[in-house]
Parts: sequence; C-alpha cells; structure tokens
Amino acid sequence: MSRKNFFSVLSKEIERIDKAKTSKRFEKIIDGFTKEKSPKAIINKKKYQVFNSNDYLGLRHHPLLKKAEQKASKIYGTGPGAVRFISGSLKIHRDIEKALAKFHKKDDAMVFSSSFATNLAVLYCLISGQNKDSLVDANVIVISDALNHRSIIDGIRIANLPKEQRTIFRHMDTGHLSQILEANKNKYKRALVVTDGVFSMLGEYQKLKEIRNIIDRYDGQYENGVLLVVDDAHGVGIAGKTGRGIEEIEGVKADVLIGTFGKAFGADGGYVVASQTIIDYLRESAATYIYSNSIPPGTAGAVLKSIEILDKTAGKKLLKNSKENVAYFKKQMKKVGYQFATDSSHPIQPVLIGDPIKTSDLVGKLFKKNIIVTNISFPVVPKGRDEIRVQISAVHTKKDIDQLVKAFEEELVYN
Ligand SMILES: Cc1ncc(COP(=O)(O)O)c(C=O)c1O
Repeated sequence: MSRKNFFSVLSKEIERIDKAKTSKRFEKIIDGFTKEKSPKAIINKKKYQVFNSNDYLGLRHHPLLKKAEQKASKIYGTGPGAVRFISGSLKIHRDIEKALAKFHKKDDAMVFSSSFATNLAVLYCLISGQNKDSLVDANVIVISDALNHRSIIDGIRIANLPKEQRTIFRHMDTGHLSQILEANKNKYKRALVVTDGVFSMLGEYQKLKEIRNIIDRYDGQYENGVLLVVDDAHGVGIAGKTGRGIEEIEGVKADVLIGTFGKAFGADGGYVVASQTIIDYLRESAATYIYSNSIPPGTAGAVLKSIEILDKTAGKKLLKNSKENVAYFKKQMKKVGYQFATDSSHPIQPVLIGDPIKTSDLVGKLFKKNIIVTNISFPVVPKGRDEIRVQISAVHTKKDIDQLVKAFEEELVYN
C-alpha cells in the first residue's frame, strides 16, 4: 500500500478521459499577436485569425487599456499585497465598484478575482449562511436553468442542500419555472432563481422579462420572497445597444447581477452588482472575496478604462461594429449554404454541422487555413446538433470575415 496506488488511479483516469476524447490539456499555445488593429495570433511562427475569443470588442489589445494597466501598476505595484479586508483594498478597486454600480444602475458592486469565484461565493451566501451563527438559513428552493454555466452548478453544489431543494427548469422553459415555483410555495420560506443571461454554446438570450414577471408574481407567495440571480458573463459589455447586457436586451433588472471582466471588457476578474443590503451582506460573507486576493492593480487599471471607454464614442463605435460584423457574417454564411443552430444576434454564432466527426474534421481543415474556431458536440449540445462555434469580434475586418466564410465555403459540409 502506498500513494503510488493513488497515482496509478490518476493515470487510469487520464487514460479514460483521453479515450472518451474529452481531454482538454493539449492546448494551442499562442506565442504572441500581430500588431494589426485586428490582431492575429502567432502559433509556431504562423499567423492565425482568432474566431473563438470572448474578447468581443477587441479591448484586450487596446492601447488605452495597456496604458492604464501600466499606470496603475506604477502607482500600486504589481499585486494587491493582501486580501481586501487586510490591506488589499486599493482606491482603484473602489473606483471600479462605483463605476460598475453606475454602469448597471445598482447601489453597489464587489470585485472578485474571477466570475467563477464570484458565482461560487455569491450563490453559497444567498443559499445559506456562512456558519452556525448566521441568521441566514437554507430554507430555500433553488431553481436553475438546465444549461447554466459550471460555476453556477458548483456554487449551488457547495451550498450542500438536500437534493429536493435543488431543482432544474428545462432550458429557457419559463412554463416549467412557473410550475416549480407553484409546487414549492408552501414548502420553503424563499426561492432563488438563477440563470445565465446569455448562453455560451448557442448565443441565446435568456427570456429574462418573462422570468422577471413570473418571479414577481410568486414573490408574495413565499414568506421571504423570490430572488433573481443572473450571471451575464457573455452579455455585459457587449449585448444591448449600450453594452449593459441581458438587462438592456430584455428591459428588466436582476436582483443580483454577476459579470466578468475577462470577456467583452478585455481584462480579467469578476463582479457582482446589487442593492446595498445584498452587497453589504456579501462583503461580510463571500469567502472568495474575504479570503482570496482581488484583481491586481494593473488589471484594475485596464478594467476601469474599459468601463469608461464603453460609454465614449470609441466604445459606441465598437458596439456598432460588432453588430454590423455579426449581421454580415450571418448573411454571407447563409449565402454559401450554411445554417445556424440558433438565430443569434450575439457575437456567438453557432454554425450547425450536425455530426461530431464532420465537425471536428472541419475545425482541423479551417486550422490548416489559419483560422481558429471551436467544435462543440454531445453532451454539450444534443446529438445531431454538433456545431462550430464562431465568435465574431468588433475589430475583425470585412476581409477577415470574408476569408472565414471563403474557408467555410471551400470545405462546404451540408448539414
Ligand atoms: C456564464 C459564465 N459564467 C462564468 C464564467 C467564468 O468566467 P471567469 O473567467 O471570469 O471566471 C464563464 C466563462 O466561461 C461563463 O461563460
């Protein structure tokens, strides 16, 4: 008996994953980027068009963000030095929180190292209190969309509720959500509904207006009401006329909104915005905020600049470009005979292929033509709905998009 036995279990597990063809560790390593306005990734001295990045506005290469990053690290150093409540609360963190509260028209905000870390702590704290003295109890039914992101699933999981208190409503099926709220109204003191704002595999916008209406209808039927928590990682900064995300698209507000700086904002880190009471409670309880460093000063500088840019002429122009590029790509792809898995107006564009082998072959062929896209197959999407996920950026040029469509056309796969 020895730990060697455990290592052999680990090796067998890696083999199992490889055999199931779900391994993720053979990553493409990017050596750098070209200096163009629409930067290409350099891999083994070759240039590639990146059509699978979440940097929807191209802000990660923006000169003003880089300048702000350098300026902030000159002032504050390269790391936060401590967690927030010790000595890691820098003015720039508070500046971001104030800017976010204003951006999303909520009372206050909190910044975390990532939105994965945000979801883990926020969901845990809204489901149950942090310790036995907490006045927040877990007399709650949690209702989660079937296709919610892994960070939501894990946030619910760590709260360790009995199985009957963790329910799933069918993806975007608001009727099913109503049924669950109706069936549980005399069983629990409160309910918590949690959903992605934009679903990352298909670029779908959640039906937030319908959900808000249902929740408001049931709010009075639970002693402590019904709370709507939305993770809008793929929506904030990019969806809606001014980039306010799903709240702007659907014209309603979440009670608690979670976002990331790692996608449209072109930097890194996560955040939550909500009412003052909720934020004050979370600042006292959220473990990944209290016991883990916030984003480094340089990143904070870039984040603050990107929030600022969004409402300026430059940001408005990027948002406009994004919408035009998405519409152009869809039109050109349809012309050459491709279909989409959904009619998305988000930069996430799921090209329907419908077969796992054809899908991964096509991704390989496009890579040989210096284009990077992502194949998505079962179990992430249903069997027969295999897709190539293309993500269009505001800084892609028409020529970039034409090259992509031409490459698709040359390898035409009928779906
Ligand atoms: C819906 C959703 N939530 C959270 C995350 C995690 O984001 P971060 O990189 O900020 O942890 C992602 C990233 O893919 C996401 O799509």
